Amino acid sequence: MEKLYFRKERFRIMLVGDPHCYDEDRTEEGRKRLKDYLALQNAALDASHPDLVVLMGDNAYGETREEVRQVLLRMTKPYADRGIPFTFVLGNHDLQVPDTTLEQLYRVYRELPGVLTAEPITEHGDFSFLVYDPETDTPALQLLCVYSGSSPGPGGYSYYDWVLPEQNEWILKTTEACAAKYGKTPAVLFQHIPVPEEFGLLDERSALCMAGSGVYGQNEQKGRFFTKKKGVEGYLGEAPCVPAFNSGEFETIKQTGSVFAAFFGHDHMNDFVGMTDGVILGQCKTASFNVYGDGLRQAVRLLDFDLKAPYQLKTRMLTYRELIGAKCDSLHGSIAVLHDRTSVKLELIAKIALGAAAAALPALAAKLIRRNRKKGAEPDAG
Ligand SMILES: [Fe+2]
Ligand SMILES: [Fe+2]
Repeated sequence: MEKLYFRKERFRIMLVGDPHCYDEDRTEEGRKRLKDYLALQNAALDASHPDLVVLMGDNAYGETREEVRQVLLRMTKPYADRGIPFTFVLGNHDLQVPDTTLEQLYRVYRELPGVLTAEPITEHGDFSFLVYDPETDTPALQLLCVYSGSSPGPGGYSYYDWVLPEQNEWILKTTEACAAKYGKTPAVLFQHIPVPEEFGLLDERSALCMAGSGVYGQNEQKGRFFTKKKGVEGYLGEAPCVPAFNSGEFETIKQTGSVFAAFFGHDHMNDFVGMTDGVILGQCKTASFNVYGDGLRQAVRLLDFDLKAPYQLKTRMLTYRELIGAKCDSLHGSIAVLHDRTSVKLELIAKIALGAAAAALPALAAKLIRRNRKKGAEPDAG
């Protein structure tokens, strides 16, 4: 495997959230969305020159593994063209390719040009690798790629899968082995589905917060409302969709003493980042136009590591709007007019209002009919 090094005491990673690519060439609309996605990728690469790209899961879909391979080749071409290595985690939708096992899917990824994985990939789909100090040729940063599974099967206890206890053991063992060999090495974890402790960055509020920057809980969090805690940066566009079962991954992360930050995808609108219990937790929103998003703020996230101060991680989003501007062929409806996340809320409010009106209509009609019948039955005053 190619060895990664800091350059001039810096190492930059570009995170690409939820690409959700497929064979978009089949339709005119699909071609527009692909064009806009690739424009964002190319512009972000040219603006930031990262040392490594990480695909954050829900990467590619195809009817066959060969189709997935073709989709992946197309979506990673901007990295290959520039000689920038990339790695990945898988998301809850990646294993939806028919008749495909996790191992078979990894084989497809591992044959892509420019991909970095490591030996071994565990049976649960986890791997790690190191970034080196070029002066000493010793590791300065450890990167952990963890597979957070898919949706549990029918009758499942949780909407989303969770990291298994064996995977928590692997996180601990992998960081301990690195510490035993090279001394304590700062580590960062990448994973698709967030840990439930992301809620530690949020405050629970009353429903009134929805009038401002609040969001409503989903799945197991239904009926609850949240805003960002003070000091948490970035955008909260939806409540985190986390597994209902907590297998103790966050506790494991703390126990390592070296994993100081973890970044997640899955929630397409969120790009907030903050510290909870001494660990940085950050979201990477979607970069795709194939899924629900945030106006023209489809984006990538940059992580900047300093060799001399690796724990002083700097991070920011690079949005489509910032890089390319307001021209975007794949947006439609109110988003195309407003080019803003406000439109997403307005659409939601309009949908709720229409839904409420539709639900009230039969009752209203029945009431009117009853009233008319009653009138008809009354004796004529004349
Ligand atoms: Fe997704
Ligand atoms: Fe997902």
